[in-house]
Amino acid sequence: MYKLDQSKTPYFKKIKEYGLSNQTQLDVPGHKLGHINNEFREFVGENVFLIDANAPRGLDNLAKPNGVIKEALELAADAFNADNAYFLVNGTSQGIIAMIMSAVRANEKIIIPRNVHKSAINGLILSGAMPVFIKPHMDSELGIANGIILSELRETILENPDAKAVFVINPTYFGVVSNLKEIVKLAHEYDMMVLVDEAHGAHFGFHEDLPLSAMEAGADMSAVSVHKTLGSLTQTSILLTKGDLVSNNRVRSTLNILQTTSPSSIFMASLDTARSYMALNGREKLDDLIKLTSWARDEINKIRGFKAITEDYIYNHKGYGYDPTKIMVKVSDLGITGFDAYNILSKESNVQVELAETNLVLAVLSIATTKEDLENFILGLKNLKKHKKKTEIRQKIRFTYPEVFDRPREAYHAYKKFVKIEDSLNEVSAESIMVYPPGIPLLIPGEIINEDILDDLNFYLDQGSTILSDTKNGYIRVIDQDKTYNKED
Ligand SMILES: Cc1ncc(COP(=O)(O)O)c(C=O)c1O
Repeated sequence: MYKLDQSKTPYFKKIKEYGLSNQTQLDVPGHKLGHINNEFREFVGENVFLIDANAPRGLDNLAKPNGVIKEALELAADAFNADNAYFLVNGTSQGIIAMIMSAVRANEKIIIPRNVHKSAINGLILSGAMPVFIKPHMDSELGIANGIILSELRETILENPDAKAVFVINPTYFGVVSNLKEIVKLAHEYDMMVLVDEAHGAHFGFHEDLPLSAMEAGADMSAVSVHKTLGSLTQTSILLTKGDLVSNNRVRSTLNILQTTSPSSIFMASLDTARSYMALNGREKLDDLIKLTSWARDEINKIRGFKAITEDYIYNHKGYGYDPTKIMVKVSDLGITGFDAYNILSKESNVQVELAETNLVLAVLSIATTKEDLENFILGLKNLKKHKKKTEIRQKIRFTYPEVFDRPREAYHAYKKFVKIEDSLNEVSAESIMVYPPGIPLLIPGEIINEDILDDLNFYLDQGSTILSDTKNGYIRVIDQDKTYNKED
């Protein structure tokens, strides 16, 4: 089914050979293949250092691949059903910024759901693109934002036929997918590129019972977090491109702006081997995982007070599909919030879930998940029943988003001032404010701060969530309409 021999790991093979070749190292990195004694070296041992080289002869150059990296990228493109693949050493965040910068120029429009990850907003700042926000479908029972509805996208495209691209999340952090195949068809009718955030969907193309991957759906570009679901090291992702709408020259030069000139060879070797392993074993391993998650979901649904979300639930709430390898559990019927559950699971049961929202916790699984892991999760959930309360959970779901005052880039570059959050009503934000996880911005640069936003911020602070902004605690950076220079900008 693959065109190339997926058992090959050309980059990993070469870097190992180099590490074991005993060359006199008069280049960087300074640890000289691990001849250094520090705590880290003591803990991880020698091998990690042996494959940590910079750019010796024969090891190719990520900025202009022509040897073993080129070969590894061709294998990755083949495995992910793409025309081209690019290794990313700064995560899918780097890929998302690169997709937006290479597809949309300053002042051109991009149609984009408002529940995008922070990196997409950063892509808007760096490219200077004009966002046309599309509202995701809101699930008021779970209190989360899901996919985009095709008819609404059609309307937005008809109102903005000059837009250059449509941005899609496949799947959302919670595992919900939109009808990507039809989205691609529609966007292409209007010559718009489809750029896909596939941070949580790197595994989709490796099993037929999973939602369609961006490349299978005919999208033009997709950034996949290999590290999130395919077992490579954190920070390692791949950018994939397909078809004639994409300028691969522009993609390459954009990546070269964004990435370090010293990409980690450990990261690249990790991508090379994760790809080979998935191509050879992914289908079988995912088959086991899908069966395991289906079992766990049934077990959770037998426990009173919990609801593990099923595909049927998603269909009944206007979702197009769901990634079965994620387990979203509604806990709020017990009178506790997802945030409470997240903390208690970690403290009392030693179970670390991926994220919490008001009503739920989310477990992200992978081919490395075992039955024992899920048994521990189920035991942890049973233990939560001790914490049952009679209180009604305060719901926090907004169906509106703040009004846009300016392009994100204008707001980012504007003169700014700091105001206390409680004094910021009607000011224009100059930064992104997020609840973490999932890192979806409540407010982005250029949006007008309204009462709903202030209410949301207080709500999340009360719940003990981490609010991330680039500013000092309790303050927010806003546009200074009087244009006074502030050296702390
Ligand atoms: C929806 C979504 N997109 C993009 C990203 C960024 O991915 P990465 O961590 O690989 O940079 C994340 C990270 O959590 C995410 O949740």
